[in-house]
Amino acid sequence: MSNQEDTFKRNFNAREYLHFYWPEEKLDVEDMFIMTFLHKTCSHYRNFLKGKSWLELSGGPVMDKYISASKYVKEIYHSAYTSSSIHEIQNFIDNNNGQYNWSKRFEFILKLEEEEEEMNLEQSSLDDTNLNSGNNEKYKILEMRLREKLNKNVLFCDVKNDNKCGINYNNTEEEKDTIDLLKKEDKKNLLVDILSIHSVVECISKTPEECFKLLTNALQLLKKGGLLIMTINIETNHWNNSNTLLYQAANIKTKEILDYLSAYGFYDIKYEIFTRDDNDEITNMEKTLALSCRLKEEP
Ligand SMILES: C[S@@+](CC[C@H](N)C(=O)[O-])C[C@H]1O[C@@H](n2cnc3c(N)ncnc32)[C@H](O)[C@@H]1O
Repeated sequence: MSNQEDTFKRNFNAREYLHFYWPEEKLDVEDMFIMTFLHKTCSHYRNFLKGKSWLELSGGPVMDKYISASKYVKEIYHSAYTSSSIHEIQNFIDNNNGQYNWSKRFEFILKLEEEEEEMNLEQSSLDDTNLNSGNNEKYKILEMRLREKLNKNVLFCDVKNDNKCGINYNNTEEEKDTIDLLKKEDKKNLLVDILSIHSVVECISKTPEECFKLLTNALQLLKKGGLLIMTINIETNHWNNSNTLLYQAANIKTKEILDYLSAYGFYDIKYEIFTRDDNDEITNMEKTLALSCRLKEEP
């Protein structure tokens, strides 16, 4: 185990990370940029997403990246590295007390969906009581939709593990017989149709070389023809766990990422860049590249 991994296992505090970047009471402009990009991407790929599995790779304690996708996909696997992150998301899945309050994010996405005039929730999964909830509780419908799509267990991942990031979809006894999309003999080696990865590879490495090695590890999990959805912090050297705890990041440029993905076999690369201006809160990263792209069927 390297020093950095040690540091994450010892020091990463999921709640402090959430309070720092996702304060319960407000959204910042970078949050809105990312959620809007994801919403547009899911809407654009809606037919592709239907009936497919989404893997959130090293999603930490954060669940805003797949709220839009939960409208279309068949299921969502959330994976995380530290036990404090696993605990946060598991708490949401199990609908326990003490959950983090994501209502502002759900409300924001609800508004995007309403604006798109496609509030077409699956009646079969919601009873009338839920649909009749008051207007200010309307976002809870999205919360329930998401809870239903999330796999019952948060999975452990280690992006530094070059054997498919150590992901094991079959990590509980109870689920052994229920994961129908997997061939029984090959559950460990499942490849997904949609790989979603945000602020991970650059945030857990120190150099661009290491960052691209980790991205290669991550891409092993994606099927040929699959969809990659990613946000990556550009031209930055650090990120925060809290006001007092900083982690080093690899300093990556947009062109390096785009060139790498093209060379790997991705096409239809669509991207947008968010740049923080002087008036923005410090919780916005300086520059964020959001992108989606498809992996060729054949190399
Ligand atoms: C900047 S956070 C991003 C989390 C989340 N994807 C998001 O969008 O907020 C980086 C995450 O990487 C996790 N991490 C640290 N070492 C890791 C490893 N070896 N494999 C996977 N994740 C790791 C940290 O615990 C942290 O949750």
